[in-house]
Amino acid sequence: MLRRIKPLSLALLPFKQSLRLLVTKSPHRYNHKNYSDNDNDNPYERKQKTKNVGAECSIYLHKSRGQHILTNPRVLDAIVRKAELRPTDTVLEIGPGTGNLTLKLLEVAQKVVAIEIDPRMIQILNTRLSEHGLQDRVTVICKDALKAEFPHFDIIVANIPYGISSPLIAKIVFGTNTFRSCTLLLQKEFARRLLANPGDSEYNRLAVNVKLVADVKFVMDVSKRDFVPCPKVDSSVVKIHRKGEVPGVDINEWWAFTRTCFSKKNKTLGATFKQKRKVVELFKRSQMIDVFEENGVEQYSFDDRDEEDEKDDEGECSLVCLEMAMSLFKDKIVGVLKAGEFEDKRPSKLSNEELLRLLTLFNQAGIHFHHQAKRKDEFVVTYATT
Ligand SMILES: C[S@@+](CC[C@H](N)C(=O)[O-])C[C@H]1O[C@@H](n2cnc3c(N)ncnc32)[C@H](O)[C@@H]1O
Repeated sequence: MLRRIKPLSLALLPFKQSLRLLVTKSPHRYNHKNYSDNDNDNPYERKQKTKNVGAECSIYLHKSRGQHILTNPRVLDAIVRKAELRPTDTVLEIGPGTGNLTLKLLEVAQKVVAIEIDPRMIQILNTRLSEHGLQDRVTVICKDALKAEFPHFDIIVANIPYGISSPLIAKIVFGTNTFRSCTLLLQKEFARRLLANPGDSEYNRLAVNVKLVADVKFVMDVSKRDFVPCPKVDSSVVKIHRKGEVPGVDINEWWAFTRTCFSKKNKTLGATFKQKRKVVELFKRSQMIDVFEENGVEQYSFDDRDEEDEKDDEGECSLVCLEMAMSLFKDKIVGVLKAGEFEDKRPSKLSNEELLRLLTLFNQAGIHFHHQAKRKDEFVVTYATT
């Protein structure tokens, strides 16, 4: 929930306009001048310093936008080192905030393209870039990174707002941009889920979906004490590489399939797919024309009896037909599971290769997970992980 607060003191003149803010319930006032680029003191001291807000550019940080500023220069240096930048690189940075990471990136790379949603942050970033004479090497786009079209870039390095981790990673790995690697700072638990393998307790749909098109490697953990304000959670850095060869699968079909499989990741596939609700759902999606045809059941029958009789008979017939078709469809699902020896297997233990094989078997049997009519024009950015 956002609420308006009074503008702060005129002592903060240079950023007076930016201080007419909407702030969250738990705002944290941040002054980047208190965290100089060579600040090597301990995090507790740095936290203390935020209370003595300086004059130049204090702003309230919005928790709702994940505004936790990474202030430990050793961690910033390590992230840049692990990203293995080249001097010719254009780096895409999502959520540059006040520019702590941006300045470090520019020590190695040629250019940074930054996408930042908060104009106040951009104002501070631009001021800092001018102070360092670096403004010509940075392009700042003031937009929501989930909605913005990504410009050309070679590599991604970013401390992203954790609230958009899932859809942002989906946009990066399933999008059309080509890039060498993507080094991201993420919430530690989220990173663990992204890194999980079949059989791990954290293994989940997010890992399965990302693994289809990318490899993810753990880089390092980062303490919550390295951020201002100090978040409740620790963080981890991961590095993502797109796979050279990606299976030729319809991505919407794959997502819908993994959503069904991982709705209860520890249940056997037999139990999941025999649920009446699932059978009905899949039946509708698969538009069971082939089942009717294969079994000699006519979907529509026309004769020349009077209309009233026809209405009664039609109701009865369509119900019977439907029941019959459903039962046949359920048998078909079970048949596929049995043929592939998947009936007693649990999604939480299946590799991507096994899942792909199962999806192929379902599709070959005319069973589809994503509505056929929607397939062509839909790229689902609302990528769910559960
Ligand atoms: C965790 S902070 C990182 C700041 C800075 N990179 C650092 O390391 O200190 C996340 C930044 O992302 C910005 N942000 C939040 N949601 C965003 C979105 N949807 N698109 C682009 N930027 C966003 C916030 O305003 C904030 O500046």
